[in-house]
Amino acid sequence: MSERSFLPIVLAAGLGTRMQSEMPKVMHEIGHLPMIGHVLNSLKMSNADRVAVVIGPQMDALEKVVTDLSPNVSCHVQTDRLGTAHAALAARDAMLDPADDVLILYGDTPLVTREAIGTVRAALADGADVAVLGFETKKPYGYGRLLTDGGQLLAIREEKDATDAERRITFCNSGIMGFRGKVVLELLTSIGNDNKKGEFYLTDAAEIAVARNLNVVAVSASEEDVQGINTRAQLSTCEAVFQRRMRIQTLEGGVTMQAPDTVYFSHDTVIEPDVLIEPNVVFGPDVHVERGAVIRAFSHLEGAHVGSSATVGPYARLRPGARLSEGSRVGNFVEVKNSEIGVGAKVNHLSYIGDASIGAKSNIGAGTITCNYDGFGKHKTDIGAGSFIGSNSTLVAPLTLGNGVFVAAGSVVTEQVSDNALVIGRSQQVEKTGRAEALRTRFKAAKDAKSSGTERGK
Ligand code: UD1
Ligand code: CA
Repeated sequence: MSERSFLPIVLAAGLGTRMQSEMPKVMHEIGHLPMIGHVLNSLKMSNADRVAVVIGPQMDALEKVVTDLSPNVSCHVQTDRLGTAHAALAARDAMLDPADDVLILYGDTPLVTREAIGTVRAALADGADVAVLGFETKKPYGYGRLLTDGGQLLAIREEKDATDAERRITFCNSGIMGFRGKVVLELLTSIGNDNKKGEFYLTDAAEIAVARNLNVVAVSASEEDVQGINTRAQLSTCEAVFQRRMRIQTLEGGVTMQAPDTVYFSHDTVIEPDVLIEPNVVFGPDVHVERGAVIRAFSHLEGAHVGSSATVGPYARLRPGARLSEGSRVGNFVEVKNSEIGVGAKVNHLSYIGDASIGAKSNIGAGTITCNYDGFGKHKTDIGAGSFIGSNSTLVAPLTLGNGVFVAAGSVVTEQVSDNALVIGRSQQVEKTGRAEALRTRFKAAKDAKSSGTERGK
């Protein structure tokens, strides 16, 4: 089969009005990747020679996403949205030099797998002129129904045009249709719009092909792989399937999760073997966790690299540019952004570390804040190796602290500190012997006076 040339055409011009969104439907994300990206990834794995995507007018953001994801892609604009057959014909140029297998897929069917695509191509390789991928479902509402006779497909009936008896059919059209390259254009151009919606339905290609004595077959996939998204509820159903697939893949990759159902992944999350992930952890885009690290409960990570054997959380937040070196520790209620935490360094409690670099084995005390922003620009804090920053210190950037520095707790540090220096940046403590008792007496008298309603003691 691999010698057969393969041209997929992905239809993505629809507005998806039922999503109630300003964004084209296929830009809505699953696992932080626009749904069309999932379709393009599956096509990439299926060795598509080139891909044609049909978009709507003024969908520049979508065009950019598509061209960034797939190098060998051509975008075609469907100016009026007159239905799925009309959309496919917007990519007529791509079909002029037809591949052996032309597959038309919908951009709103993001969970499609390489296997499902392979099933349709196998049917074409076996001699079908048209092969439609169907699925059995308990909820056929809204899908086109496949009217079959054995494996032969007679017609596809859209919900709005179906009789009551046809609506009871539970074998539905996934939207993925394969055509022998030589017949596709002729079939598409024969489709009319004589139906309830007045649209040019791609699905009518089946009945037209049957009338021409072509070999038209229905093959099947699981509902999970081919469910379409027309509503936000369906988007969330697909997200759940995607998350389940990521959890299984992560567990199979040698990662321990105590409560996998409470861990959320992005499409590009990389977790190496022997990592432990505690419950309720969220991975945003672009996170890599190296071998042996521990991500403790309720942590949120995005754009972060966690080195081997590092510990994160519980309740930690790693934002883009957080780079934790081997064996470092970022503890509870600590936020790290665009900062390097050196080998074995610790930021264990209640800190904000932003635009900073912390040298190996340094210890950042509880409540330390890097003041990186002055309302206009961001500034860097550099802390050398083996330094100790006392609790509740305020480090006002731009700032450089050397190696082996010791900052006393509660300091506000604004000036550069040289290696091995001790810094105390706070007002000096004053002790007044015996004055505590006098103070208490005064406070008590004031309180008594207030409660008795007199002026006495003031
Ligand atoms: C379609 C199928 C239905 C199938 C279902 C599977 C038709 C007529 N119906 O219905 O048989 O069961 O998908 O999910 O094909 N699009 C365009 N231009 C258009 C219209 C649509 O590009 O003018 C694109 C949309 O962006 C979408 C895809 O085609 O990605 C499908 O369109 P949609 O309106 O969602 O079709 P369904 O009603 O779901
Ligand atoms: Ca749809």
